[in-house]
Amino acid sequence: MKILVTGGLGFIGSHVVAELQNEGFEVVIIDNLSNSTIDVLEGIIAITGIELVFEKIDLRDKSLVVDFFKRHHDINGVIHFAASKAVGESVELPLLYYENNLNTLIYLLQELQKKESANFIFSSSCTVYGQADSLPITESAPIKKAASPYGNTKQIGEEIILDTCKVVPNLNAIALRYFNPIGAHESIRIGELPLGTPQNLVPFITQTAIGKRTQLSVFGDDYPTEDGTCVRDYIHVVDLAKAHVMALTRLINGSNKDNFEVFNIGTGKGSSVLEVIHTFEEVSGKKLNYKIVGRREGDVISAYADTHKANTILKWNAKLNLKDALLSAWKWENK
Ligand code: WQD
Repeated sequence: MKILVTGGLGFIGSHVVAELQNEGFEVVIIDNLSNSTIDVLEGIIAITGIELVFEKIDLRDKSLVVDFFKRHHDINGVIHFAASKAVGESVELPLLYYENNLNTLIYLLQELQKKESANFIFSSSCTVYGQADSLPITESAPIKKAASPYGNTKQIGEEIILDTCKVVPNLNAIALRYFNPIGAHESIRIGELPLGTPQNLVPFITQTAIGKRTQLSVFGDDYPTEDGTCVRDYIHVVDLAKAHVMALTRLINGSNKDNFEVFNIGTGKGSSVLEVIHTFEEVSGKKLNYKIVGRREGDVISAYADTHKANTILKWNAKLNLKDALLSAWKWENK
């Protein structure tokens, strides 16, 4: 089975490619290298020892997408990661986000709807829930008005897929709503490569610990949580990658009940920012230099997953915990 992974040289995409190859899938990667480097390709090949077809294509060019599917007419599975994903940047550059995250999705679906049958896995995010009314968050929690254009592109993206699947019965799709992916592959050949200043907590922690950054700013400790800092569900990227293989397999086997399904992918456990810091200090043996500053615009107080649906229907469970993930992130920073 030949699978296209768009954004396959990115943080999550590269880990999914490795898991797909380990499961015997033939993989083709498209990436425009806007947020990755070609070294990641070497890293994946070093892990699996299997050759990989990579094409540097910007999916915003519709003619290139059409041409790609003409040349790879035997692809009938797509896992779509290629998108811009920095929440703050999306507020500054909304049109870049709407064009890059939505036009590319539309062009891919336009090609897939031409096929006899097609399987599509969409990289979505718990950001669609905003601040959920109750925790842990289930897939039936209301979708709230997005706090950023980035979050809005995930909500609109899911609606585009739903509306398309309603009228294209041969298209089967699953959206995976990730909580907070962190960590790196045990081989330390691939991991999170934030270009520039990291926006996310864990890469900022590891870069501070290794001395690339002088101090971590903790964005607020006056939230209504146990220790005043925000709570998130931090999931090891390898567990997240395995969920993609399970979801794709579900579609290939025709086990899906509807032709568009949604699953929350998290550990089901919430950890505060200070808990993450203290756990990192424990696993790394490094004292972290941080200071409490003001809140960050758009942060929700607490978000962690109810994983019952993925556990029972996808037969998927997170196997790794926060310590495993933070230790792997630290080893990756030290590679
Ligand atoms: C986590 C917590 C911050 C940095 C976002 C997107 C989500 C996904 C993951 C793409 C928050 C605090 C952070 C720092 C801090 N993105 N923090 N100091 O915001 O939960 O999720 O990234 O797929 O869709 O919404 O992740 O790691 O940015 O923040 O105190 O330097 O860490 O305030 O409470 P977030 P994050």
